Amino acid sequence: MTDWVDVCDEEEIDLEDVLRFDHGGRTFAIYRSMEGEVFATDGLCTHEQVYLAGGLVMDDVIECPKHNGRFNYKTGEALRTPACVNLATYPARVADGRIQIQV
Ligand code: FES
Repeated sequence: MTDWVDVCDEEEIDLEDVLRFDHGGRTFAIYRSMEGEVFATDGLCTHEQVYLAGGLVMDDVIECPKHNGRFNYKTGEALRTPACVNLATYPARVADGRIQIQV
């Protein structure tokens, strides 16, 4: 069983926004949906290695800042070229007001 990793206070990510989180030599993108649910994906676009946290969140979608490829951040599914390879996703939760992910 993998431990939960502490990320930040829930309030540090606005609704419908994304935060970059670096841990263990890897980078992740942490999202809060409009409903306040939290999600986590790999932090780098699968097209070229660009930080997704610099992109735009719209509903369930993250748009990459470089070539506007899109992914569903809840499922990791690549939705628009040039992004064709799905993103890895990770379990995320809120515990005592802190966002945690399992990696
Ligand atoms: S680097 Fe993300 S779509 Fe090209």
